[in-house]
Amino acid sequence: MERIDKILASQNIGSRKEVQKIIKSGDVCINGEVCRKNDFKADPENDIITVRGQALNYRKHIYIMMNKPGGVLSASRDKNAMTVIDLLPSEYRRRGLFPAGRLDKDTEGLLIITDDGDFAHKMLSPKNHIEKRYVAVLDGEIKQDTISAFKKGIIFADGTKCMPAQLEVPDIYDQKTGIVTICEGKFHQVKKMFACCGLNVVHLKRISIGNLHLDSKLPIGECKLLNNLDKELIFIGNIH
Ligand code: URA
Repeated sequence: MERIDKILASQNIGSRKEVQKIIKSGDVCINGEVCRKNDFKADPENDIITVRGQALNYRKHIYIMMNKPGGVLSASRDKNAMTVIDLLPSEYRRRGLFPAGRLDKDTEGLLIITDDGDFAHKMLSPKNHIEKRYVAVLDGEIKQDTISAFKKGIIFADGTKCMPAQLEVPDIYDQKTGIVTICEGKFHQVKKMFACCGLNVVHLKRISIGNLHLDSKLPIGECKLLNNLDKELIFIGNIH
């Protein structure tokens, strides 16, 4: 059970002050009864709450797929730069949203934004070996020795060891484009792995996390909500 003003504010109906005004004005009903008390306790999962006659579609947490554009920071807020949270449409905004895992400023593609810390932790924990797949365009051709080095596990100059990764060069691309699959998320990992093999990444796009693929119909910079099945796809089919 939670205070009705807190429930409504958490669902993007307005700020705490704004929803308190709405409640006082008699525009909120709980199970058919007008509720004018801000501290009235309701069960948001089971009570029928309406605001100006519209049923509240309560979501404890939200999970957003964004097709991140380049030039935008994967952070909640930044004094100077535009962040992925700044890009969210107003209907998805609520307190506590953060990007679950970072993409570099110039990296594009699949980013999950949520307010569910447990979910993010499960998705990001290296222990869970969730595969992240990227399309990387390089400044030179990918040779067999690079594919083998990725498979063995790249070791950075500072001694940091990467887990074995898969590098494929599909026929549909030229030899300068590869699909990389990694199960961890070290800082600048894909770029550094290629750098160890003498190649520079000129474009990087994440295309999947686990079995959840970036929706090919989602334009760059736009978002959609994930449903329960989408969420589950992240965690099924791990390689380890
Ligand atoms: N690896 C990188 O180098 N950059 C990213 O943004 C993601 C993975």
